[in-house]
Amino acid sequence: MGHVVGAGVSNRYRSAAAGELGVDDEGRWVRLAGWVARRRDHGGIAFLDLRDSTGIVQVVIDPVAVRAVHDVRSEWCLSIEGTVRRRPEGTVNPDLSTGEVEVAGDALTVLSPAEGLPFQLDDRVEIEEKTRLEFRYLDLRRPRMAANLVARSRAVAAIRRSLDDLGFLEVETPTLIRSTPEGARDLLVPSRHQPGSFFALPQSPQLFKQLLMVAGVERYFQIARCYRDEDFRSDRQVEFTQLDLEGSFWEEPEVQAAIEAAVVAAVEAVRSDSPALPFHRMTWSEAMDRFGTDKPDMRFAIELADLSDVFDGTAFAGFGDVLEEGGSVIGLDAGALSLSRAGLDALVARAKELGASGLVWMVVEEGGGSVRSPVAKFLAEGEIEGVIGALEAVEGDTVLLVADVKRRRAQTVLGQLRIELGRPEGHDELSFLWVTDFPAFEETANGQLVPSHHPFTAPVTVAAMQERPAEAVSRAYDLVVNGIELGSGSIRIHDPEVQSRVFEILGISADDAERRFGWFLRALRYGAPPHGGFAFGIDRLVAVLRDEPNIREVMPFPKTQTGSDPLTGAPTAVEEEQLTELGVRLAPVRPDA
Ligand code: AMO
Repeated sequence: MGHVVGAGVSNRYRSAAAGELGVDDEGRWVRLAGWVARRRDHGGIAFLDLRDSTGIVQVVIDPVAVRAVHDVRSEWCLSIEGTVRRRPEGTVNPDLSTGEVEVAGDALTVLSPAEGLPFQLDDRVEIEEKTRLEFRYLDLRRPRMAANLVARSRAVAAIRRSLDDLGFLEVETPTLIRSTPEGARDLLVPSRHQPGSFFALPQSPQLFKQLLMVAGVERYFQIARCYRDEDFRSDRQVEFTQLDLEGSFWEEPEVQAAIEAAVVAAVEAVRSDSPALPFHRMTWSEAMDRFGTDKPDMRFAIELADLSDVFDGTAFAGFGDVLEEGGSVIGLDAGALSLSRAGLDALVARAKELGASGLVWMVVEEGGGSVRSPVAKFLAEGEIEGVIGALEAVEGDTVLLVADVKRRRAQTVLGQLRIELGRPEGHDELSFLWVTDFPAFEETANGQLVPSHHPFTAPVTVAAMQERPAEAVSRAYDLVVNGIELGSGSIRIHDPEVQSRVFEILGISADDAERRFGWFLRALRYGAPPHGGFAFGIDRLVAVLRDEPNIREVMPFPKTQTGSDPLTGAPTAVEEEQLTELGVRLAPVRPDA
């Protein structure tokens, strides 16, 4: 993919790029520079795969003529001179872009030898994460990793170009800021000038981009480094990069169109396919009802169904009691799973682990009219027919049912099983989806309301939010790709009065709000325009585009799952003197910490 050294580059190290040689170069004298990806010896002749950032070409060297090749080992850095020739019949390598040719080397300069490698630099070899990160500069020499870096660079360049074309201004916001509430823990930086005071690293540029709107920047974007001290998963790192964007005098359609333009530009820069525009849209409640998640993977069709009506007045207490309490029975046709009894029992256990009080399975029997199920004897014929009819189940299908007083909980459990059972393989198309109309607030276990997105998100109607906050809908939207949350955004509150009401609902007193966000609320009182925006994870996008399971594969120097950097050893203790200067004294580490 890369053409970094490019044609026409000619200096004392090289006159051509290894990965760009082909039959048109037959007979050409070239000087190449790069690394030895592999060395083989056949019949007294050395075959070196020479790799530079453009690719690999085979160099054939006779050690009698070029004695220096004797010592050369994997990953030595060399400059080689020779003549391009066609490979002999039967030795063409279709896996290499340069596979029809080789270079007959007649001179070699060792630019830099390499020690014995800690691991083989081969895409097919599994290497322990810690070792890969400790020698990341070697890990990044692997073709897959090098291609990931190229893809990332291209995606970011395309995003920049597309937003520049749309008239956006790229503005940098500070990374030493006052702590802002975005749901995760802040990373703190002590101040030397004000001992005892701390900066926070931004979890996102959220409030600064809103201030830019007040400042009259009508179209802002930034490729922003963000920091969140949260537990790591495959799609999270302590520092990561967002495409962050905001605009004034616009609403959902404009924000979404700008994001679509940026995402499509990135996709086209990296892959040969291009997603259809506009992306699909679905409200949050439709996503929950149909797929049991706010980030449905639309590449496969299985949907949930509400079967509460089918079991109205049922004699089966397991469902009847739940329905009487106002709950729901939700069903899913998982298709022809052909599970053993033990496999089905494992599904029940998994559903319980996910928070269901139980799971009823039914396997549709021959003829498609009856089922095998531990509860079949408690169910009326009409109920079984009702389930089969509503889910359009056919012979051999496994149907899963969950009853719960909380409809959303039943949906979520089945939504998760849907993903675990039906994750499509080999579907490498990209399926983008906007999920809109998120609830404004979520209720915590102790009944406290917290913002679903962040507290600066505008409600659809202020009156409805005040009357029934728990049911209020906000002007927040997410972008989902293949079941992954790529980004989120919203139309913001620009009226300080409305902002105060949201703080009230969140149980933040006027004094507290003033103390924590007074600096921001004041800006809203100086002619703040209506505005809204969005941010998506660049790491997540590039990982999806490159079909990588973990975002660290598309980050040049990521941290381990436990937040450390095996390459530099960070984080480390610091000198006592540094701490004294900062006015910081360490408390003894708690044994449970
Ligand atoms: P949000 O918190 O949803 O929204 O973040 C937006 C996107 O950033 C990415 N992301 C991460 N990527 C890697 N590691 C992490 N720890 C991590 N955390 C988040 C995700 C996520 O969807 N200020 C709002 C946006 C707005 O309203 O404009 C915000 O940051 O892809």
